[in-house]
Amino acid sequence: TRSPGPGPAPMDLPWLPDSNVRYRDRCFWDSRYREVGAAPAEWFGGLSCFREQLEAELRPGDRILVLGCGNSALSADLFQLGYTDVTSIDYSPVCITGMRARYAQCPGLQWVVMDARDLAFPDGTFDVVLEKGTLDSMMVAETDPWNVSPETTALLDQVLKEVSRVLRPGGRFISITFAQPHFRKRHYAQPAYGWSLRHSTYGTDFHYFLYVMCKGQELSPADLALGRRLHELPCPACPPSYLQASDSEDYLSAIEL
Ligand SMILES: C[S@@+](CC[C@H](N)C(=O)[O-])C[C@H]1O[C@@H](n2cnc3c(N)ncnc32)[C@H](O)[C@@H]1O
Repeated sequence: TRSPGPGPAPMDLPWLPDSNVRYRDRCFWDSRYREVGAAPAEWFGGLSCFREQLEAELRPGDRILVLGCGNSALSADLFQLGYTDVTSIDYSPVCITGMRARYAQCPGLQWVVMDARDLAFPDGTFDVVLEKGTLDSMMVAETDPWNVSPETTALLDQVLKEVSRVLRPGGRFISITFAQPHFRKRHYAQPAYGWSLRHSTYGTDFHYFLYVMCKGQELSPADLALGRRLHELPCPACPPSYLQASDSEDYLSAIEL
């Protein structure tokens, strides 16, 4: 299959975890890649689904970093299009060993075992950092997307700080996800990262989102305001108020239609 992620997923895939929380677990990914190998499988679709939008952000000769590459063919597909300087990282050694062997004939493709929270590259190394579904896999334990836990917010912040650091001024961070703008933009719209923010959508039945952050450009006032919401305390849960059998229903006749 080329569609192993959220959205329509076939039910007969043996590697599907018993709980989504396991997507946060490196051992899960190791065992998954041990089972399925490096044959291409795409979360949120392959390059053909968003090629036009992605290519609009790329320049010939760009140095591209792919975070959490998994067994996606995206890095190799970019190579075929002429973007030959692509470094792909994943924290699963099983994944990286498989991808390195599968694409051994593409000399510009680099495959490195590395944690996205701690990138071993000097500042300003890349023109483009790309991720598809990797940040989503870090958020799977969240039950309320309006109130993301401080732990997960800090985890994302760790990755985003690293992304911003390894981007050169004018570089772009491109994040491909199913997360809707009202949930995801607040994480990206932080002045500390020093980038602007915009997004577009792709997909027909199910919509996916392609966020583009441009290093060295400013966030709009609206995005800054969204970003501030991330640091507001969640509303205390209001107890539900039930209508009592004894309550008067006179209010119904007061409604003006
Ligand atoms: C949902 S899959 C997406 C795979 C691929 N990007 C795609 O589009 O099909 C998430 C991938 O991110 C990797 N990953 C998760 N957390 C990571 C981290 N902290 N550092 C590096 N890779 C990570 C997992 O091993 C897995 O391969």
